[in-house]
Amino acid sequence: MSNSEYWNNRARKFGHTGWANYSIYAFDQLARLKAIESILTNLKLERNLALDFGTGSGDFARILSKSFKKVIAFDTSEKVVEIGRAHGKDLKNIDFCSGNSVMDLAIGDGSLDLILSVTVLGHLMDNNQLSTHLHFFNTKLANNGRVIALEYTPANKPASTEYQNFLTLSDWQDAFAAKGFNLDDCVGFYSPTQAPCSSFDKYKRYTIVKILRFFQRFEWPRAKLDVIANKFVNDNDDYFWPSENDDLLKIMVFKKS
Ligand SMILES: C[S@@+](CC[C@H](N)C(=O)[O-])C[C@H]1O[C@@H](n2cnc3c(N)ncnc32)[C@H](O)[C@@H]1O
Repeated sequence: MSNSEYWNNRARKFGHTGWANYSIYAFDQLARLKAIESILTNLKLERNLALDFGTGSGDFARILSKSFKKVIAFDTSEKVVEIGRAHGKDLKNIDFCSGNSVMDLAIGDGSLDLILSVTVLGHLMDNNQLSTHLHFFNTKLANNGRVIALEYTPANKPASTEYQNFLTLSDWQDAFAAKGFNLDDCVGFYSPTQAPCSSFDKYKRYTIVKILRFFQRFEWPRAKLDVIANKFVNDNDDYFWPSENDDLLKIMVFKKS
């Protein structure tokens, strides 16, 4: 199965390309959005043009559209881009697009102020593909721009699966450094399954969440899970923290060296 077919199938089945289990997705996606938004707020950047690389159903592109004049939301899955476009139809400053490669897009050299990649680079399965993408990022990024990447960074990396390539923090730094980037900031991030934070644990054990989980194929339990997850995520901030060595996931901020 091709890469885009795999993601198209997930988009058709779940309506997004995140966690299959909606009770996890509801909390996790919100926690990711809050953490990225908080990092973004503290970055001193021009806010003309941003690229959401591997935008999925466009949640992060919608966050970027609040502060950037224009957002390019690209994904290799045309199906998930259709979903993203429908969700973001009222936001005229997001340009949703799909295709074989982001490198086919006509983007001016040095024109991007931000490139965001939320669990996408780890799905580029060979080092050459990763390195050509990072070269492209460097060419298109403005001198004062940033790349923000949320990725797995296990200290002892497991073998790659068919769709996930695991790199340590130092692997990521080396791959970025080889294409002219320095690590500018780094934040640890929880994992709902392997390194849960206390707010996620409480949310997961909440009786109504346990019940709703069984009915998650229906619309109304999903909407209810969204409301509950929203409360847990908004009332806490224990799902991200200043980076420690052994974080399973990290949000890495790179700038041009
Ligand atoms: C785990 S999902 C994350 C989606 C989105 N960033 C989010 O967090 O909601 C990974 C996404 O990367 C996309 N993807 C995989 N390989 C890609 C590539 N080479 N270029 C662009 N997008 C890709 C998939 O289609 C999928 O939507």
